Amino acid sequence: MDVVRVNDFDFRPFISHAMIQQRIKEIAAQINHDLAKEKPLFIGILNGSFMFAADLMRELSIKSEITFVKLSSYDGTQSTGEVITRIGLDKPVKGRTVVVVEDIIDTGKTIHEMLKVLKAGKAGRIIIATLLLKPDALQYDIKVDYVGFKVPNDFLVGYGLDYDGLGRNLRDIYVKI
Ligand code: IMP
Ligand code: MG
Repeated sequence: MDVVRVNDFDFRPFISHAMIQQRIKEIAAQINHDLAKEKPLFIGILNGSFMFAADLMRELSIKSEITFVKLSSYDGTQSTGEVITRIGLDKPVKGRTVVVVEDIIDTGKTIHEMLKVLKAGKAGRIIIATLLLKPDALQYDIKVDYVGFKVPNDFLVGYGLDYDGLGRNLRDIYVKI
């Protein structure tokens, strides 16, 4: 893997596609075990989570459903601190076990807003699964149930993550140099 250029920045390889897939298999095995008796509703947060959600779903053997919401908080390489709902929840969550699927938890603001929506909708068990977590950036007291990789406070692209809309198609995850 080589350095890639996305817009005006260079990024170096950070987490390989093979490592991502291996970790997703492990998380899915845990979820298959932990939620075997439930019929959870997975809720992917667009745009970033589409690849993780798709690969995770392929490894699940339990009965489950999936839907998506579209929230955005990022502008370029910075979190704006304001979360805008672009597409809201289309399914009732009352009493249901829901699994929120995120690509990355940075400040935690997006997940925090999602949790408010789910609590307002009287969801039953609320579970969070994220491929990536930046523990040093987290500003909310949020319990994350499944974490793929803990990552430093650097800017990443690839595997669904973008820089100004670009780079989501990359198979591996890259870090800004
Ligand atoms: P939070 O609300 O600060 O936790 O930010 C969460 C959202 O910001 C994620 O769902 C991503 O879409 C985006 N984000 C956070 N960190 C990165 C990054 O390093 N690269 C690309 N997008 C990021
Ligand atoms: Mg996202």
